[in-house]
Amino acid sequence: VQLVASEGTRIRERYGVELEIAGVLVRDPVRERPGVDRRLITTCALDVLDADCDVIVELIGGVHTAGSFVRRAIARGRDVVTANKALLSACGRELFTMAERAGVALRFEASVCGAVPVVRALRHGLAGDSIESIAGILNGTCNYVLTRMEDGLDFATALSLAQANGFAEAEASLDVDGEDAAQKLRILADLAFDAPVRRAWVTGIRGISAEAIADARAAGCVIRLVAEARRVAGGIEMSVAPRLVPRSDPFARVVDEQNAVLIRGRASGELLLSGRGAGSLPTAAAVLSDVLECGDRSRHFATDRAAVGLGAEV
Ligand SMILES: NC(=O)c1ccc[n+]([C@@H]2O[C@H](COP(=O)([O-])OP(=O)(O)OC[C@H]3O[C@@H](n4cnc5c(N)ncnc54)[C@H](OP(=O)(O)O)[C@@H]3O)[C@@H](O)[C@H]2O)c1
Repeated sequence: VQLVASEGTRIRERYGVELEIAGVLVRDPVRERPGVDRRLITTCALDVLDADCDVIVELIGGVHTAGSFVRRAIARGRDVVTANKALLSACGRELFTMAERAGVALRFEASVCGAVPVVRALRHGLAGDSIESIAGILNGTCNYVLTRMEDGLDFATALSLAQANGFAEAEASLDVDGEDAAQKLRILADLAFDAPVRRAWVTGIRGISAEAIADARAAGCVIRLVAEARRVAGGIEMSVAPRLVPRSDPFARVVDEQNAVLIRGRASGELLLSGRGAGSLPTAAAVLSDVLECGDRSRHFATDRAAVGLGAEV
């Protein structure tokens, strides 16, 4: 809502698209929501899902209810934009097939790395190349916790601080046990590779102690939770695990809640994207760019076929 208000005029003038919010579905109708027209707020899902609109934006999170809303929107011929990596990771294959059959778009830039346009880079910018590997710091909460531990905080205090600052998912174990990063890695790997997953393992940062941080420092390194997918014989190998990263490595300079992705293409070589992977405005910027692309669907729809594999079991 904030971005539509602040960017609406520029978007109309530049892209010829008039953005209008038709309805806002929430759980709590009395909560203060600065800038939101109260008349648009509803707690009845059908008010929004069946509204006369072009795009449904799903930002409620979770798998079950969000999935039923997205299915209904697609069935009613609406384009859908989502930031929900858990949903795509669990049932992306089904949803993309459904969207393709219905001839609607299902966009998901904000689901991986917030404002960092890594989905677009893989779908469009690198469509002409074979991707050899993708490695990234994909979870801002873990990176924030590890950075604070370098400042001397213990794990529990650093995690509380991440939660107080709004970086952590409601269920923090998804972050700290590596599952959130694994879900994002699956989305990127499905976009980048057309090959089966041969091996996958996930380790989070819960076991990282103050001593481990001190030992890393003594060795001229820092610890980062690195998610990596790479080509191996016969398929893809995926891992999420804490790694010792030399201070000279670009990943060592990714601090606090920042995200970074290093893509290695056969022809293009290394490409490093980094930036704000979470937070309401960075995420909203990615969501809004997807909304705009929905208006331009005919041009890009063919490339969505590459995303149909999303949600394949690992
Ligand atoms: N926050 C980020 O930095 C970020 C970054 C990238 C992706 N994402 C993804 O974006 C999604 C939302 O995350 P968030 O951090 O914005 O979550 P959030 O702060 O909990 O907001 C969720 C919103 O959805 C509404 N909602 C939840 N369940 C609902 C239901 N059953 N019916 C109607 N409304 C419902 C809530 O309404 P009330 O306000 O009434 O509670 C709230 O407004 C998630 O999929 C998350 O993974 C978030």
